Amino acid sequence: MAIFSTSTYFKILLFLILYFKALSAAPNSSFNFKNFGKNSKFESKLALYGNAKVINGSSSVQVTGSSIFSAGRVMYKKPIKFLETNPRNIMSFSTHFSFSLSHENGDGLAFVMVPIEYPLNDFDDGASFGLFGWRKFKVLGVEFDTFMDDKDGDVNSNHVGIDISSPVSVKVSNVSSVKMVLNSGEKMQAWIDYEPGFLRLEVRLGQLGEMRPVNPLLSYRIDLSRMWKDKELFVGLSSSSRNSLQKCKVYSWSMKLTRVPHWMHSQPLDPKAFSGPVKIKDPVDNKRDCLPRILAALILGIGCGGFGAFIVLFVWTIFDKRQPVVPEECAVKPVEFEYKKFKVVVDKSAEDGNK
Ligand SMILES: *[C@@H]1O[C@H](CO)[C@@H](O)[C@H](O)[C@H]1NC(C)=O
Repeated sequence: MAIFSTSTYFKILLFLILYFKALSAAPNSSFNFKNFGKNSKFESKLALYGNAKVINGSSSVQVTGSSIFSAGRVMYKKPIKFLETNPRNIMSFSTHFSFSLSHENGDGLAFVMVPIEYPLNDFDDGASFGLFGWRKFKVLGVEFDTFMDDKDGDVNSNHVGIDISSPVSVKVSNVSSVKMVLNSGEKMQAWIDYEPGFLRLEVRLGQLGEMRPVNPLLSYRIDLSRMWKDKELFVGLSSSSRNSLQKCKVYSWSMKLTRVPHWMHSQPLDPKAFSGPVKIKDPVDNKRDCLPRILAALILGIGCGGFGAFIVLFVWTIFDKRQPVVPEECAVKPVEFEYKKFKVVVDKSAEDGNK
C-alpha cells in the first residue's frame, strides 16, 4: 500500500506539473534544419531571396559570394508576433545556426526581423547586409560583421552587434577579444535568445562543435512586445558581399518560438519604447506603487503555497489512510521499489469483429 501510494503520488504530482507547464507555455512554431539537402524539405518552411541558393552537390545555402555586390537572404515563411491579444500572450524565441564567412571583408551575416510588408526581394547593394529602411520598417538585426563601416560607427572588421531601427549598433562586442575570427572561413555557430520575462536579448558565438557558451557575448535589455506590439514579422538571415567576393554560407538553422502568458512579463523598462507622449513617474510614485505590488505578490505566494499543500495533503489522505504518518517502531523505513509485469489479454474475437 505504501509503495503504491508513493508512486501514485509522484505520478499525480508529475501530471500536475506537466499540466501547468503546458498551460503556461504552448509552443507556437518551430523548425530545425540540420542541413539544406534535398531530403531536408526546408523549402516547406524557408524561402530564399536574391543570390541565396543551395550549392549543387552540397547541403548548405550560399547566401552571397557568386559575384561582387551579391546579396541574399533566407527567411522563415511563417510570420511571428511578439504580442497576442486574445489570449494575451507574449513570445519568447531561441534560435541557433551555423555559418562560415570567407576571408574577404564583406558585410558578414545578420539575423534579422522585419515587418511582413518589408520588400524581401529588394536589396540595397551598398547598405549593410543588403537591408534598407531600418528606421521606416523598424528593422532589428544581430550582425556578425566583417566590414569596418565608419558611417555605422563600427569598432573593427570583426564584431558582433545588436542593431535596432538603425545599422549603428546599440551594443557591440569585439570578437577579436574573445579570440575568434568571423571571416576565418571556418564553420561557426551562433545562438540568439529572447527571454521576455527578463526582457533580454542574448547572443552567443562559438566554433562549430563547441558547446553552447554559458555566458553570452552580448546581452541587451529590450521589450520586443512593446517595440513591435502585435505586428506580424518575418525572421531570417541576410547578407551582402559589398565590393568583395566574400562567400557567406549557412549550414543549419533551427528556431523555437514559445508563447508565454502575459502575466509572466516584467514591467517595461525602456520609456522610449512607448509610442505617444511619455510620462516618467517620479520616484515617490514608484514607491507608492511598490507596496500594493509586494502585498499582491505575498497574497499570491501564500495562496499558491496553500493550494500546493492542500493537494499534497489530499493525495496523502486518499492513498495513505490506514498508515500512521510516522510508524512508532521505526521512523524511517527503507522504501522498496517493485516492478510488476502485467499480462495484457487481447480479446481476439472482439478485435476480429472490428475489422
Ligand atoms: C579588439 O580586441 C583586440 C584583441 O584583444 C584588440 O587588439 C583590439 O584593439 C580591440 N579593438 C577594439 C576596437 O577595441
